[in-house]
Amino acid sequence: MPPGFLERRAPNQLFINNEWVTAASGGTFPTYHPANGELIAEVAAGLAPDVDKAVKAARAAFNDPKWRNMDAADRGVLLWRIADAIEARQQELIRIEVMDNGKPLREAQIDLREAIDAFRYYAGWTTKMTGDTIPVRGNVLNYTLREPVGVVGAIIPWNFPLLMAAWKVAPALACGNTVVLKPAEQTPLTALELAAIASEAGLPAGVLNVITGLGESAGAALVAHPDVDKIAFTGSTQVGKIIMRTAAESLKKVSLELGGKSPNIVFDDADVDAAVRGSFAAIYYNNGQCCTAGSRLLVHERVADHLVEKIAERAKKMTPGDPLDPKTRMSPVISQEQLDRIMGYIETGTREGATLVTGGKRAPYNGAETGYWIEPTIFDQVKPEHTIAQEEIFGPVLAAVRFSDEEEAIDIANRTIYGLAAGIWTSDVKRAHRVAKRLEAGTIWINTYHPLDAASPFGGYKQSGYGRELGAYALDLYTQIKSVWVDLS
Ligand code: NAI
Ligand code: MG
Repeated sequence: MPPGFLERRAPNQLFINNEWVTAASGGTFPTYHPANGELIAEVAAGLAPDVDKAVKAARAAFNDPKWRNMDAADRGVLLWRIADAIEARQQELIRIEVMDNGKPLREAQIDLREAIDAFRYYAGWTTKMTGDTIPVRGNVLNYTLREPVGVVGAIIPWNFPLLMAAWKVAPALACGNTVVLKPAEQTPLTALELAAIASEAGLPAGVLNVITGLGESAGAALVAHPDVDKIAFTGSTQVGKIIMRTAAESLKKVSLELGGKSPNIVFDDADVDAAVRGSFAAIYYNNGQCCTAGSRLLVHERVADHLVEKIAERAKKMTPGDPLDPKTRMSPVISQEQLDRIMGYIETGTREGATLVTGGKRAPYNGAETGYWIEPTIFDQVKPEHTIAQEEIFGPVLAAVRFSDEEEAIDIANRTIYGLAAGIWTSDVKRAHRVAKRLEAGTIWINTYHPLDAASPFGGYKQSGYGRELGAYALDLYTQIKSVWVDLS
């Protein structure tokens, strides 16, 4: 960990009202470095009373004129200052993220840049959110106001910890809300740092609060709290459904960014070398722990043998390395629980009759079976109905499914409960757009895979969730519209 990190903070503290506050129960839970499974820090286990305290602080801040009546331009300046403060501390944040999550340094650097981008992008929006004047019948003036929703509960996963926090906190604050953020129990550290940084940058007390803790306790308490107006969630489809049910009780607004089983479709007219590189990155970026992972390789039968062989060649070259080493490309999976779950899927793939091309075993780290490493794994001859072609694995496991024409590719691509993203590799421009239109997914990448930007909307079709984060669309998640009528007669 960065020098002084552990000394600076008490393990049983949460961040509420711009202060480090001891969790009511005093309890803590451990967070580990996934590369070797070693304990890196104890973190406060927040429970319902802590959530209540944070929600009260967020409500008071929401009603405080200091935040509520702050000029939009000043709110923008503040968000920009937070971005600058993150940037000034980025080397330290990158190190903490690498230790907590296990991702390679190079990928943590990209996360940081994108998190900073999100704050700067939404800093610009504060002065550009406008209402309408509407030409209604009669001698009246009708106009709309775009107002914040109130107290936002943000619950985020462990795969991009700081980035997911930024994707929720930046637009929520730009729109004038206050936030209680619950990071994932596997990666709680950078969220706490973010709140402390924002406070130092001048964010008023109570505007951003962080409750670390487990999903079933801290997360569930936040969703159930009657004074939270909205839940913004990224995580599993299973928990997304629980959140919707619970939120129904107080009719909270809910936005959900959930799982995926994204098809990456390679046609026989594609630039094969580009498709190999892109398909490899589609599945192995962040070790397959991306909601958008291109985990189903749909490949035309004419190019399938060659493509699978070339991807496998690359996969075999991936070896575990110290995540802090800038040369490391491979990362461990996040936890023992995820390792067991992924190994279970690998067994199922073999049992159901798919052909294991490469990988399939735990990978040793520094010569020992330590940490949570799995060899990059590829199955060929997978049938669309196989479990490994239907369920989200969230690890380094690629399922190659062969098709013989465009119609069949589209049909297979759409035949899952998910609809988060899809890739298309072809040199036929007509085909590219024709297929893009027919795929049931919120993001389509043509002859590329994975780029995202704070300015472009992101979210799911079908059971991958609803609501669009990023871009101008996220403003709809964090504001509500008021229609005002004035009699002019
Ligand atoms: P999860 O959905 O349980 O965790 C995500 C967040 O939700 C965490 O902050 C967790 O503490 C919180 N949470 C869990 N249960 C909750 C509840 N009852 N009420 C409120 N909050 C709750 O995901 P988990 O267990 O870490 O991973 C399981 C699977 O979920 C993965 O294998 C993957 O398939 C999927 N997943 C998808 C992600 C995505 O980005 N779409 C991210 C993480 C996991
Ligand atoms: Mg951890």
